[in-house]
Amino acid sequence: MTLYSKIIGTGSYLPQQRVTNADLTAQLAAKGIDTSDEWIVSRSGISARHYAAPDELSSDLAVAAARQALAMADKQPHEIDLVIVASSTPDYYGSFPSTACIVQRKLGMGNGSAAFDVQAVCSGFIYAVSVADAFIKAGAHKNVLVIGAEVFSRILNFEDRGTCVLFGDGAGAVVMSASDTPGILASKLHADGSYADILSVPGNLANGAIAGSAFLYMDGPAVFKLAVTVLEQVATEVLEAAGMSAGQVDWLVPHQANIRIMKSTARKLGLPMEKMVVTVDQHGNTSAASIPLALDAAVRDGRIQPGHTVLMEGVGGGFTWGAVLARM
Ligand code: ACO
Repeated sequence: MTLYSKIIGTGSYLPQQRVTNADLTAQLAAKGIDTSDEWIVSRSGISARHYAAPDELSSDLAVAAARQALAMADKQPHEIDLVIVASSTPDYYGSFPSTACIVQRKLGMGNGSAAFDVQAVCSGFIYAVSVADAFIKAGAHKNVLVIGAEVFSRILNFEDRGTCVLFGDGAGAVVMSASDTPGILASKLHADGSYADILSVPGNLANGAIAGSAFLYMDGPAVFKLAVTVLEQVATEVLEAAGMSAGQVDWLVPHQANIRIMKSTARKLGLPMEKMVVTVDQHGNTSAASIPLALDAAVRDGRIQPGHTVLMEGVGGGFTWGAVLARM
């Protein structure tokens, strides 16, 4: 009997502090930096984002999202045998212990489950789902908790209006389990390190301090150009791998970076806007958390139903990109 992996529960969490474009415009104006709701909405589609409290870490957001996903999946924490966290803002600057290990501890799993982080920036959730799918299909793990969690507000330079208005904090989670029916239908991952410099946090640790910058740097127009090209390519690839056409997709759940990139991808695939889940307007770009946050929103409001075919795709620093086609 073929073994498949299936998403059996979703969850998400947004920190309490909601920051509208008007809030941010006022905050930046106090520093003499000029921006406007009109500029932010017209260039990105973003109206608001959430910021974590000073004492909230990625693992805290991750745990809140995970609890919801576990409840929907009707699983107890001790039934999970692998935790994967995708994050570019891990709890510890040196990246260890992994945020996945902290999540395991905070969930009180205490069952010796494997736990590790995946680093693929905004493609991180797609990478993590693909890894979980492969582990489940190989028979190595049965119930996997996959989480995207970010506190990007911590790496934003509020002197750089070209980036600080675009990002927000949040977490989304799924429980993936072994199943005798599909499941994840296909997945494709890619990277091209020659584009490493267009989106990065260009700092290194040296002598216990940061040499360089601890803030996010982005060449927006270069990212935009690359994103629209690779997202269409990988979506087509994953559909081909599953032997399906775009017309058979019920929902497109893309990385929520910029509404213009999202609309362009939907248009190139011939999918109407009504089939695309959009949360970027209220969440901003939450990097690895954006796809599971959007997925959970559409599952909970009843748009995504059991049996629906969902195309998820992401693109991010590295440069990395990938897509997952899932039957819910
Ligand atoms: N408010 C007002 N003006 C601004 C702001 C702002 N917040 N930010 C930049 N500007 C100005 C610039 O200074 C520039 O002015 P100038 O022409 O006088 O120099 C002008 O607006 C145009 O700037 P561009 O950067 O060319 O604007 P563009 O239309 O390309 O939009 C944006 C910028 C929104 C960043 C766009 O390039 C983009 O979306 N890129 C992709 C970003 C993305 O998707 N990133 C995430 C993917 S990967 C990941 O998620 C980590």
